[in-house]
Parts: sequence; C-alpha cells; structure tokens
Amino acid sequence: MAEYKPLPVTLPFPTSRQEVFDLLHGIWDRNWLTNAGPVHQELEAKFGETFGLDHVKLVSNGTVALQLAYQALGLKGEVITTPISYIATTSSLVWERCTPVFVDVLPTTLCMDPNAIEAAITDQTTAIVATHCYGLPCDVEAIQDIANRHGLKVIYDAAHAVGSTYKGQSLLSFGDFSTTSLHATKLLHAVEGGAIVAANAALDRRIFFNRNFGHDGPERFEGVGINGKMSEFHAAVGLVNIRYMESILAKRKEAHGWYDTALVGSKVAKLEVPEGADWNCSYYPVLFESETALERTLEVLAARGITARRYFYPSLDTVGYVQKAHLPVAHDVTRRVACLPLMYQITEHDVARVADVIQREA
Ligand SMILES: Cc1ncc(COP(=O)(O)O)c(C=O)c1O
Repeated sequence: MAEYKPLPVTLPFPTSRQEVFDLLHGIWDRNWLTNAGPVHQELEAKFGETFGLDHVKLVSNGTVALQLAYQALGLKGEVITTPISYIATTSSLVWERCTPVFVDVLPTTLCMDPNAIEAAITDQTTAIVATHCYGLPCDVEAIQDIANRHGLKVIYDAAHAVGSTYKGQSLLSFGDFSTTSLHATKLLHAVEGGAIVAANAALDRRIFFNRNFGHDGPERFEGVGINGKMSEFHAAVGLVNIRYMESILAKRKEAHGWYDTALVGSKVAKLEVPEGADWNCSYYPVLFESETALERTLEVLAARGITARRYFYPSLDTVGYVQKAHLPVAHDVTRRVACLPLMYQITEHDVARVADVIQREA
C-alpha cells in the first residue's frame, strides 16, 4: 500500500525558540515594542550586511512594501507588469489607482519579456513593475535600458528573491526600488514582514518617513504616510532566522538536487537559470505537458497526502478587476505549472515519494 503521510507544499522555517526567547527578554525589559526599536534596527542593519545592500527599510509586509514604493515614486497612469506573480503585485497597483498593463513572459524563467515591455509603452506609461518569478532573475539589464530610454521607473517585486544573485549582486539591488516579503512561508521570514531596498538615499529617506505616517518628529510631517512599521516581536523572529541564512540556502539547493536526480526521465520540465544568476532555489516549479496531466498528477499526489500547488495560477490578467490581455505564453504556462513540496524540513525520502508519483502519472 502506498505511504500516506501529509506533506504540505511548504512550511515556515523552524525558528529557534530559545534564540527568540532570549531576544524577547530584552524587548520586555526595555518595554519598547514597536516603532523602530533596537531589534528592528539590528535586523535592518543585518539584512543590508547579509545581502550587500545599502538602503534597506523594514516594513510590516510585502504588500505595503509595494504600495510604499509606488507612492514614493508617484506612480500613476499605466504601469507595465507581469501576469505571473502573486495577486499582491497587481492588486497593490490597482489599490494605488494605477492601471496594470500586462505583458507576456519568457517561457524560460516566466519573468517579463523585455521585448513585450517595450512594445506596450504608451504616453501614459510611468513605470515597470516586474517580479523575479520563483526567485529567478528578470532580465534586469534589458529592463533598465528600456526604462532609461523611456524615462520610466522600475520596481522589482523581489518577494521570492532573497538570497538570489545576478552577476554576484543581490537581486534586491536592482531598479528604483526592490521590495520583498518576510511572510512565514518565505525563505527568510519574520512571521509577517517586508523590506524595501531603495536605489539611493533620497528614496530611502522617503520610505523612512512614509512607513511611519510621515512623522518627522512628534509634531512635524514630511508628507503623506501610512502605518507600515514592523514590530519588535516580528523583528526578533526575523533576526533569529537571518542567522541561519546560509544553512537555509544550502538546504534548498540540496533538496533541488534530490528532485533533479529523482525526476530524471520524467515528463515534467524545469525552468532555466539565466547565465550569471545564482538562484536561491526558493521553489521547485515544474511544467507539465498539459493541464490534464497536471490535474491528474496533483490529484494522485493529494490522495497520498502530498500537496503540490498551482502557483502561479491563474494568469493575473484574468482576475475580474483588470483588463484582460493577449498573452499566449502566460496563458499556456499558468495552466501547466505547479510548485512541488519544498521546505527546510524536507527529506530525500519525501522527495522520492513526490517523484515516484510524477514519474508514473505526469
Ligand atoms: C510575489 C509576491 N509579491 C507580494 C507578496 C505579498 O507579500 P506579503 O504577504 O508579505 O504581503 C507575496 C507574498 O505572498 C508574493 O509572493
């Protein structure tokens, strides 16, 4: 009889309870619970140091990070964006009263196709919002070149890209802003949280004020702000987890190796890591030959307690509140792509169980 043991698509990194408790004592002693306290400051500095980034601001989540970035750049009108991302990339644009204009993706990385971006520019376009899909890099050089030639801002949704590099630089170092999520399911987490990396000190300064209601001292306001602050408790979890970053990345790569070996000869295809990139391996996305094969395989996996997730699905231009677009690649791949279980705790045996079903059903 086949083994039945629940294997979720992911799990939070198992934070060291003792190390968090050690930090909690300090938080209680100081009674400084939020508003950029010492633990928050330490995590902000450590995040910059770990990934080689100069202008980092922590915020309460990855969605607010996007909204703060759009606000800081004064985005309006049309924003060219990707149909393959989490809903927050699109919904935050609509929330900020911008019009998302979806363009097609490259079949190799599922990141936006630079030629499609260029073709979609109108006199209403103000920016490009691109996601490093699954932590694989967008063509950052081509995108910056287009932005420079057309006077557009660039924001990267780097929610999946912590730990990925391109030509030796963190993927969070590109664009006017890169934003990330420190949500519980992310490679690096603070239960809930986010970070914004600015291209320069002036933009960084705007985030500094805007994440805290615009306060510049108790009675002065630099401009319109919002509450995007991260608490000391969230920062404590983030600070403990970031100490394990090397081990988190190493484990992801090891698990990818297990999958690569176990799936040799199967009918699913992998995406491609572009030259010059070092992928954080944060997800294990596979492309099935057809939607039918995907559905059949996910059903058999589910019957064995294994969850693989249709991620990302559907193509974001098909949600009700945006303009649908003609996107042959995105519409095809979103029907055939799924992410296989991957987490710090995964074992080679778990991977073998998943691969066994894929080898037979896909
Ligand atoms: C690509 C992408 N963008 C944005 C977000 C939103 O981040 P958060 O959940 O921290 O608001 C997520 C998180 O799930 C994401 O995967």
